[in-house]
Amino acid sequence: MKLIAPSILSADFANLEKEVKAVAAAGADWIHVDVMDGHFVPNITIGIPVVASLKKISPLPLDVHLMIEKPEKYLDGFLKAGSDWLTIHVESTNEVETCLRRIREFGSKAGLTLRPGTSVEKVLPYLHLCDLLLVMTVEPGFGGQSFMEDQVAKITRLRQEIKKQNLSTLIEVDGGVSDKTLPHLRDADVLVAGSYVFKNDYAKAISTLKN
Ligand code: DX5
Ligand code: ZN
Repeated sequence: MKLIAPSILSADFANLEKEVKAVAAAGADWIHVDVMDGHFVPNITIGIPVVASLKKISPLPLDVHLMIEKPEKYLDGFLKAGSDWLTIHVESTNEVETCLRRIREFGSKAGLTLRPGTSVEKVLPYLHLCDLLLVMTVEPGFGGQSFMEDQVAKITRLRQEIKKQNLSTLIEVDGGVSDKTLPHLRDADVLVAGSYVFKNDYAKAISTLKN
């Protein structure tokens, strides 16, 4: 059974507490929070104070996906705000190792992700420092885009590496996840879904993805 992390990027931002509690009641496992800075990606979303507010009301762990330049500058802010899982982009900093070690040292779970155009070789040297490897199946920045099938080989490759190195790193997939793209996601442990969950019946969508 997979873990399901609805992305609140597609939720009603005027009613975040209600939305978070509704997906929790509908069977979600984590809450996926997309943080964008308008530099690393061409969109701006939410920051540290909103994560801190979500932490106060969320019955589920917060899975925070940083799409920001120089995450090292803000890492402690996001950790103290209550990021249970904190994921950085391998392209966003020269201090990948320091960031991953800092997240673990704080006591949160460390995640690493890559853009569709980045080869999987770029993340492999850090695998042993990661609790989570996130494979992006859309260009980061916006919800509601089409799933990029050519990224599926990365999931397979990571699964083999994780097994080979005898690690317990989870593989998460983010972007265009739905009932239609589910057949490609056998090797994933965690599915992020924004539009598919929030534009459908929450419980039905979550249980379809889960099983
Ligand atoms: C995109 C974000 C995703 C987004 C996914 O940059 O990382 O989490 O919300 O949205 P859907 O599921 O609609 O593709
Ligand atoms: Zn995301």
